[in-house]
Amino acid sequence: MPTSASSRRSFLRFASLAAATPIFTEAHFAFAAQQTSAAKPATRRSFTPPPPGAVLINANENPLGPCKAACDVIASIAPSGGRYDLFGETDKLTKTFASQHGLKEEYIAVYAGSSEPLHYTVLAFTSPTRGLVLADPSYEAPTYAARTSGAKVTKVPLTPTYAHDLKAMVAADPAAGVIYICNPNNPTGTLTSKQEIAWAYDNKPKGSVLLVDEAYIHLSDSPDVLDMVAADKDIIVLRTFSKIYGMAGIRCGFAVGRPDLLAKLQPFGQNAMPITGSAAANVSLLDVELIPTRKKIIGDTRADTIAWLNTNKYKVIGNSQSNCFMIDTGRNGKQVIGAMAAKNVMIGRTWPIWPNAVRISVGTPAEMAKFKTAFKEVMDAPATASLTAKPFTADGRVLPQYA
Ligand SMILES: Cc1ncc(COP(=O)(O)O)c(C=O)c1O
Repeated sequence: MPTSASSRRSFLRFASLAAATPIFTEAHFAFAAQQTSAAKPATRRSFTPPPPGAVLINANENPLGPCKAACDVIASIAPSGGRYDLFGETDKLTKTFASQHGLKEEYIAVYAGSSEPLHYTVLAFTSPTRGLVLADPSYEAPTYAARTSGAKVTKVPLTPTYAHDLKAMVAADPAAGVIYICNPNNPTGTLTSKQEIAWAYDNKPKGSVLLVDEAYIHLSDSPDVLDMVAADKDIIVLRTFSKIYGMAGIRCGFAVGRPDLLAKLQPFGQNAMPITGSAAANVSLLDVELIPTRKKIIGDTRADTIAWLNTNKYKVIGNSQSNCFMIDTGRNGKQVIGAMAAKNVMIGRTWPIWPNAVRISVGTPAEMAKFKTAFKEVMDAPATASLTAKPFTADGRVLPQYA
């Protein structure tokens, strides 16, 4: 326990913030969006299973799952699971990532997914006097951490090309503690240029950090910003194995940043890694075919779906380079979600700034074929029909009359 009064005070602040902060993931937001009462993400650790045969294109998951090498290593390491980390799996993973990106190992902190360091960065660098700035629409998880830290949240609309408006974001709050940049952006899949990010860095409020979330970077042609980390800038980059690597349920992610910045995250939580997550992530990084192969599979399926939407005169928003994109349905998006769910196709949520737009995750070609059929049926029906659809029970099950 800390001894001096001030370190005891800060220990208690950290302890109470950490205890009070649920870690929200895409699964929480996706689950909440399928409820009739919608609104808030469920603060729960498990979710009601979806109905049998449901098309799940609501949480930006990867239907390809972990690669073969990852499945093999999970199976082979499971019998050693009685020990914490007998073979140094997390250390091996850190070394692999460090050597692949020319980083020192102490610049990498491994977590069970990137949601934890995302929340911890906001808790560490925002407060009632240091705000959070993010794009609108963008990934909403940081705003929940800001509620805990008591920070002012400033949302800045995307530009007409759906990039982050970094000039406006930098000017939005002179006392910002964190400027969150999601590149490619969730939910639009659109890019923000590295030049703009570098400009934002040079012009950001004094004492603030850029939190650059690269969850979807491998699905795009965008350069990453890890060189800015190596150059010791006030930047924390988030990486996850939940997207292109297909390990959302296995859990692994990184915060990458200067060691003194990463140290500020530690008081909020630093659990041991499951050896399965670390070992699977390590072999995934070593699989040189994984990124190009999956980027092409997901990119081709996305292009096919968007081409179909365009042909049928549905309005796709922006130019996604990710595993998700948004459609402006021209009607109440929440009701489109409900009507699609009644056809057992679970699509992603709306954002308050665009209540008519729904987010679609890219599934397999077979799943997207079911999506196309269901979407056309829903959009061919009068908007009032979808406005009355309420297919869910409170715990998220589809009511029998809609099943
Ligand atoms: C932008 C973004 N950041 C972070 C995450 C967190 O993912 P995880 O905790 O599974 O690594 C997600 C998940 O969908 C995301 O979309």
